[in-house]
Amino acid sequence: MRRPTSLTNISLLTGLAVAIFSTAIFLLICFLFFLEVRIENLIASSIIVFIISFSAFRFVLNRFINSKIRIIYKTIGKPLKFQQETNRKNDNMLQAVERDVAEWAINKNKQIRELKKMEQYRKEFVGNVSHELKTPIFNAQGYIETLMDSDLDDKDFAKSYLQKASANIDRLEAIVSDLLEISKFETGRIQLDKTAFDLVKLIKKVFFQYQHLAEEHKVKLQVMAEEGEIFVIADEKRMMQVLENLISNSIKYGKEDGATIVRFYDMDEQYLVEVSDNGPGIDEEHIPRLFERFYRADRSRARKVGGTGLGLAIVKNIVEAHEQTISVTSKLDEGTTFSFTLQKSQE
Ligand SMILES: Nc1ncnc2c1ncn2[C@@H]1O[C@H](COP(=O)(O)OP(=O)(O)O)[C@@H](O)[C@H]1O
Ligand SMILES: [Mg+2]
Repeated sequence: MRRPTSLTNISLLTGLAVAIFSTAIFLLICFLFFLEVRIENLIASSIIVFIISFSAFRFVLNRFINSKIRIIYKTIGKPLKFQQETNRKNDNMLQAVERDVAEWAINKNKQIRELKKMEQYRKEFVGNVSHELKTPIFNAQGYIETLMDSDLDDKDFAKSYLQKASANIDRLEAIVSDLLEISKFETGRIQLDKTAFDLVKLIKKVFFQYQHLAEEHKVKLQVMAEEGEIFVIADEKRMMQVLENLISNSIKYGKEDGATIVRFYDMDEQYLVEVSDNGPGIDEEHIPRLFERFYRADRSRARKVGGTGLGLAIVKNIVEAHEQTISVTSKLDEGTTFSFTLQKSQE
């Protein structure tokens, strides 16, 4: 174990060294010049030298160290901590400084790591946005240019190319409005309009909306609620958005002839809502990043079904704005379950 280096210890050692050294010199002089000394005088003078050198050294060292420590505390942005430490007349000031600086260094390192991560995330995001916007712009441009160079009297041809251009512009619009939505959440500009409503009814509404898509993929939609009604307090429109995305994802990324099931679990103050499918599932490596903007687990498939890759980011923002949580579990070839909590209505 390391011995604590305190001011007093250092000064004691120095005082002792000076006293011994000066006594030795004194004795040497006496010896050389044949002077007589009395032992009491020798001891008394040694003690006086010790006390004076101890006090002087302690005083000077204290001033010196304090001036350095003040700068250190200023550097680590805690000038008040310096005052506290000096007021406390802490003899183990050096240890306190060591501890505070180490703490500061750890915090700084953490901050730097976080900033680097955010910077990386920002760079990726800017790259993603540009890439996602470029594709539909490029496509629409292509269709329009082809059209301009061709025979405009061919009405069917012209119409089909205009339709294709228009579909790409629709996609552009979808991406931009999703991005604006996320930005509104992130800057806290979203006002929730919370009311009590029946979630089962809302889910049935969403099922109805996606009936066509479900039939296309031969997916069965099912809601399991024993009591028939699940009353929650939330922003109904926003919850509809959450369910629309989770349910449409389960159909789009589920399997043909599969099923989407919504279940509820009573958790005292909250309900846990689960949206499950028995589709191909999501590889574990994608799970931690799934709620990130533009993140897609299966790029080729996601592009084919035409999502913006922003749905889950919006879902997470909405759930978290309600001060609730959302998570996902998935097993390859077995299926995926998204679970989120909602505040129960006491009525
Ligand atoms: N139920 C699911 N089963 C398998 N993969 C899913 C499921 N839900 C979402 N995913 C994956 O998560 C990605 C992100 O989903 P989302 O943010 O809604 O974007 P989008 O629907 O526009 O592709 C999807 O591209 C898909 O790869
Ligand atoms: Mg989606």
